[in-house]
Formats: sequence, C-alpha cells, structure tokens
Amino acid sequence: MRSRAWPAWALLVAGCAAGALGARAESVESFVARHWRVPLAAQGPPPARFTPLEASLAPEACGTCHPAQLADWRTSTHAAAMGPGVAGQLAELLVREPAAALACQNCHAPLAEQAPLVPGALARNPAFDPALRARGIPCAACHVRGHERFGPPRRDGSLAAAAPRETLPHGGVTRTPAYLASEFCRGCHQFGPEGYALNGTLLENTYAEWKASRFAAAGVQCQDCHMPDRRHLWRGIHDADMVRGGLTITLVETPPHAAGTVAARLVVENSGVGHRFPTYVTPLVLLRAELVDAAGRALAGTRVERRIGREVTLDLEREVSDTRLAPGERAELAYARALEGGAAAARFSVIVYPDAFYTAFFTALLRQGAGGGEDDVRRALDETRRSVFTVFEALVPPKVGFSRPP
Ligand code: HEC
Ligand code: HEC
Ligand code: HEC
Ligand code: HEC
Ligand code: HEC
Repeated sequence: MRSRAWPAWALLVAGCAAGALGARAESVESFVARHWRVPLAAQGPPPARFTPLEASLAPEACGTCHPAQLADWRTSTHAAAMGPGVAGQLAELLVREPAAALACQNCHAPLAEQAPLVPGALARNPAFDPALRARGIPCAACHVRGHERFGPPRRDGSLAAAAPRETLPHGGVTRTPAYLASEFCRGCHQFGPEGYALNGTLLENTYAEWKASRFAAAGVQCQDCHMPDRRHLWRGIHDADMVRGGLTITLVETPPHAAGTVAARLVVENSGVGHRFPTYVTPLVLLRAELVDAAGRALAGTRVERRIGREVTLDLEREVSDTRLAPGERAELAYARALEGGAAAARFSVIVYPDAFYTAFFTALLRQGAGGGEDDVRRALDETRRSVFTVFEALVPPKVGFSRPP
C-alpha cells in the first residue's frame, strides 16, 4: 500500500532534478541564440566608469591583464581568420557583392566594429574600427557584448563573482556553462539546415558529425579536445601533433615474407577525432607506398596511393568522392612488390595537405584574375603550398640509417 504513494520529498527531488536539467539545457541554447545572433550588434558606448583600457576591444588590451590567452590566441587560426586567403577574396567581393562579403565576416571577422559597411543597408558603418578589421576572431567576438564580459564558470564550477562586480575590472564577468558546450562553437562550424549541401551533406557539418559520435554520447565537447586546460590554441588539421593524436596508425607485414619481396598493410584509424577525419572539404590526406633505393629515393612507377578526404570541384558544384573517416572507421593500403630495379625497401607514409582545395582554388583564381586581391591571393597560395606535413613514415624491411620525421 505505502509503495504506491511516493513521499513528497521524492517528488520534489525528482522535480528539481528535471527542472534543473531542463533549465540548464535550455540556458545553453538560449544563451547561444542570443550571444551569437548574427550579425553581431555594435558594442555601443562603454560604461562611463570604464578606463580606455577596459573599453578597448583590441586583443592587446585584453592581453594586458590576460597575457596567457593573448599569447595562445596569437598563434591560432582564429587570430588568422582574416588572413590573405579571405582578405584576397573579400577585396573584390566587397565591391561586386558586398552582401556576400559581409556574410563571410560573420564567421571570419564577426564584430560589428570589424565591418566597413552596415549589413542590410550596405551604408558606411559608423562603428567601424579599421584597426580591428584584420584581426580575425578577436577575444571580444567570443567574450564581449554591449561591453559586458561573458565567460565560463570558474574552474571549481561556481558562477559567483569574487567581489562586488562594480569593484572588478570591466565590471566583472557574467559566467555561464554555455562556454563549456559544443553549441558555443556551432554557429561558425556548422551550416544551418538550409545551408549549402552537396550530395545531401552540408559543406560544413562538424557539429552534426560530432553529435552523432560516441564522443558526444560520452559528453566530450569541442573544448575538451581543442581547448584542453582552457588553452586558446584551437589546434586542428594544420598541426602534426594534433592530427597524430587523433589517429592510430599501424603498419603490419603480411605474407608471403619471401626473400626479395615486401608485403605490408598500412592502416589509419580515426580513433580520437571527435568528428570525421578530416571534417572539412579542404584537406587531403594520402596513404602512400612506394619502393625506394638505398639512398631513400623513390623509384618511378612504384607508387600507390589512397586518398582520405571529401573531394569537391573548384566551383563547389559537385562532390567527386567522400572517403573521410567517421570516428572508429579505418582506411587501409595494402602493398606487395618484388624488390627489383635497385629497390632497397618499401616506404609507407601518411601525408597531410591541410589546404589542398585552396592550392587548386587560388591557382585558378589567379589565372582568372583576382583584381584588387591579387597580392593577397598570391601570398595565400604560397602558404597553402607550405602547410603540407608527414605524420607517419616507415620502411619495410626496416633499415637503420634512414631518417624518420620527429
Ligand atoms: C585591467 C585589467 C583587465 C582588462 C583590460 C581585461 N580584463 Fe578580463 N578580467 C580581469 C580580471 C581581474 C578578471 C577576474 C574577475 C573575476 O574574478 O570575477 C577578469 C576576468 C575575465 C574573464 C573571466 C575569466 C575567468 O577567470 O573565468 C574573461 C572571459 C575576461 N576577463 C575577458 C576579457 C576580455 C575579452 C578583455 C578585452 C576585451 C578583458 N577581459 C580585459 C581583468 C581585465
Ligand atoms: C559559417 C561560417 C563561415 C562562413 C559564413 C564562411 N566561412 Fe570561411 N571558413 C569557416 C571555417 C570554420 C573555416 C575553417 C575550415 C576548417 O578547417 O574546418 C573556414 C576557412 C576558410 C578559408 C581557408 C582559411 C584561410 O584563412 O585561408 C578561406 C579562404 C575562407 N574560409 C573564405 C571564406 C569566404 C571568402 C567566405 C564568404 C564567401 C567564407 N569563408 C564564409 C567558416 C566560414
Ligand atoms: C572562439 C572563441 C574565443 C576566443 C576568440 C577567445 N576565447 Fe577566451 N574562452 C573561450 C571559451 C570557449 C572559454 C572556456 C573554455 C573552457 O573552459 O574549456 C574561454 C575562456 C577564457 C578565459 C578563462 C580562462 C580560465 O583559465 O578560466 C579567459 C580569461 C579568456 N577566455 C580570455 C580570452 C582572451 C583574453 C582572448 C583573446 C586574446 C580570448 N579569450 C579569445 C572562447 C574564446
Ligand atoms: C565566430 C566564428 C567562430 C567561432 C565562434 C568558433 N570558430 Fe573555430 N574557426 C572559425 C574560422 C573562420 C576558422 C578558420 C580560420 C582560418 O584559418 O581562416 C576556424 C578554425 C578552427 C579550427 C581549425 C584549425 C585548423 O587547423 O584548421 C578549430 C580546431 C576550431 N576553429 C575550433 C573551434 C572551437 C572548439 C570553437 C568553440 C570553442 C570555435 N572554433 C569557435 C570560426 C569560428
Ligand atoms: C575527441 C576529440 C575531438 C572533439 C570532441 C572535437 N574535435 Fe575537432 N579535431 C580533433 C582532432 C584530433 C583534429 C585533427 C584531425 C582532423 O583534422 O580531423 C580535429 C580537427 C578539427 C578541425 C580542423 C579542420 C578539419 O578539416 O579537420 C576543426 C575545424 C575542428 N576540429 C572543429 C571541431 C568542432 C567545432 C568540434 C565540436 C563540434 C570538434 N572539433 C570536436 C579532435 C576533436
């Protein structure tokens, strides 16, 4: 009899837990919706009690008091998000299709103060600060709205202020768990449902890939992998250690094991990337096997390759292939050859071209004429050619004296 009636406290506890969970989930979504409503509004005039240092949106101003974050951020692609590749295209686009150019800025230079024109009206923007223009995604884009600072909970999880807010620099901080959630990154790393898709898959789909992965199920957020210990580095496909850390690469010798032959299988598994490897359409990863002579020189006609990537045409009209690896998936390259014609060994390698698409795209753009963006595009093309690196290299049979990448 008694078991049918729940004690009042049990209902209360269950109700509170549901309420708390509901409120928390809702507050991440509603915070993100408000915080990342694009285009971002201008900050407006700073509170009268702010010093010029507190009122400044320049990353260096924040860095006066937050030097560790500034030092990290400077090395990040977020700081370089208005680099020559973007600026070179915007130069012409701003003249010919200003609305499209401003749309690029929502992700690449999102503060209203970074936009020369007011979106919509396409009139001169009174809030425009040319000094912020090329600064990519500055601190304030993620942390400041209407001159109010927003940030994560303290490391102990508390949301409380250390002292009365009016006594703290920039009036303290409004803390919210939204900063710890993948949803905070979604606006720029995921196209909306109406966004551009090829073959039924959005061109930018990182959040959805993550959401479908075992990492999301286990509560591992973008920040846990890309901002460990709250560092502001956001390492990704351009960083060899980051890429290596997301993969398990194995090379197994396979039968026949006969003298004068090599046979092996190179396997790359996405064991620790929280989305597809790679997530975007622009990188290309090659598994390569070839015969080399005693000096390590590749022998012509012996090379076999397998591509990992989502290949699209330069006009983005068509998807050529999609061989990216979802978490847990693997790619293999089997190779078996007789060691003849001066061959000393077979070399197996995994090579990453983080900007493969852009190398081809910028080349085509220059051929067609990049107008006012010509110099920038040339510089960007050069950068894409230099970003290639090798994450794995080994010889079969192994030979002492060959150098391996660090
Ligand atoms: C004059 C020094 C000063 C300047 C300039 C300054 N801050 Fe701060 N900031 C502080 C102090 C002190 C705290 C700690 C406040 C607290 O504990 O509540 C803080 C806290 C923060 C936090 C929360 C940090 C945490 O511990 O969780 C964020 C985020 C932040 N500031 C962002 C910024 C940004 C972005 C800028 C530039 C637009 C900036 N700050 C400029 C002094 C400064
Ligand atoms: C929804 C957000 C978003 C919009 C809008 C957007 N980008 Fe990007 N862009 C990104 C992200 C994210 C990357 C990094 C891709 C990656 O590695 O996942 C990127 C990378 C790039 C790069 C390569 C990196 C570099 O700095 O050279 C170029 C060039 C670029 N975008 C140009 C543009 C242009 C031009 C537009 C407007 C026509 C535009 N983007 C609109 C999010 C966006
Ligand atoms: C792309 C968005 C983004 C940019 C740009 C950015 N931050 Fe952050 N920042 C975050 C997020 C997200 C967190 C919380 C990370 C976490 O807890 O995992 C954070 C945390 C912080 C903290 C708290 C650190 C701690 O140890 O508790 C400070 C201070 C801060 N940021 C300052 C800055 C400053 C200064 C800059 C510019 C130099 C900057 N941020 C640029 C997103 C950003
Ligand atoms: C305001 C838009 C914006 C927000 C918010 C944002 N990003 Fe980005 N992110 C970009 C753009 C644009 C690029 C490409 C920059 C470039 O190379 O030009 C990028 C690049 C990256 C890269 C690529 C590094 C590489 O090697 O190519 C990683 C990783 C990344 N972001 C992670 C995050 C995470 C994690 C968050 C959330 C804490 C976040 N981003 C929030 C716009 C944003
Ligand atoms: C379990 C760890 C993990 C999680 C979670 C994770 N990433 Fe990554 N991410 C990586 C690793 C490792 C790489 C480098 C390999 C690669 O590029 O795929 C990477 C690369 C990237 C890149 C580089 C571009 C590219 O084409 O690969 C971007 C952008 C990025 N991540 C954004 C995000 C965003 C946004 C989220 C959250 C929605 C997220 N990541 C969640 C581990 C993670």
